[in-house]
Amino acid sequence: MSGTHRALPLDGRVVSDAVAERLKARIAELPFVPRLVFVRVGEDPASVFYVRSKQRYAKRVGVDAETLVLPETVEQAELMATIARLNADPETDGILVQLPLPAHLDAAPVLEAIDPGKDVDGFHPVNVGRLWSGAPALVPCTPLGLLAILDHYELDVFGKHVVVIGRSHMVGKPAAALFLGRHATVTVAHSRTRDLGAVVRTGDVVVAAVGRAGLVTADMVRPGAVVLDVGMTRVDDRIVGDVADDVWGVAGHMTPMPGGTGLMTVAMVLQNTLTAAERRRA
Ligand code: GUN
Repeated sequence: MSGTHRALPLDGRVVSDAVAERLKARIAELPFVPRLVFVRVGEDPASVFYVRSKQRYAKRVGVDAETLVLPETVEQAELMATIARLNADPETDGILVQLPLPAHLDAAPVLEAIDPGKDVDGFHPVNVGRLWSGAPALVPCTPLGLLAILDHYELDVFGKHVVVIGRSHMVGKPAAALFLGRHATVTVAHSRTRDLGAVVRTGDVVVAAVGRAGLVTADMVRPGAVVLDVGMTRVDDRIVGDVADDVWGVAGHMTPMPGGTGLMTVAMVLQNTLTAAERRRA
């Protein structure tokens, strides 16, 4: 690539706005108002910020959203009782427990207690199993957002090699399942992969989702590749992605940070709420 090459930005704001318009139109035609409940425990600043973003997007698309704030010291049993109450409420279509939970709480039983049909995060084992077996599922929002970005920019992964770096339950693993469903060849690499650069260089599409600032550098990226940056690490006062700035000079398309994949996660929470509501109330 010449010194002046710069990847085309895959603008999360543009895609998020387009998704909002589509969701708003579809929700306006429903004979009911979908309802989404966020459960936030304590005052973790990142969680406050994310839940507020999702709440604002919900309002924009016409979803009735409420945030239940439980005290930092809440006991496991009380959190479980809150989930049980929301499961039983016929008006509630979606339940989202914002993570991470305070250290004294165990997230797994909480996530497993959510009615899989209301699980807009797609973290329940039933939804994980449905995703991997190809059945209708609620799918984790961040990987779903990656597909929404690629679809918006008409970047097809059929038959292409997608290298996913990261194997988390929230991003890496479900992203691999989704890309397989789109007929991509998928490699899942991670922080322990030997000669990561050699593996990443084989990718037509690279998803960076480890959470290590600047992990993916220009020498690791095939010229013209599509690079999707999911990492978010706080470095001093900035939020930095997993993809180093010099990759802009090599990639063909790339998500900015901020303004890329994170905005799509928010949008997909509301898309999942619509999906859940339509399935529940059909
Ligand atoms: N914390 C960071 N990302 C997420 C997410 O996608 N869902 C929830 N519930 N909590 C998170």
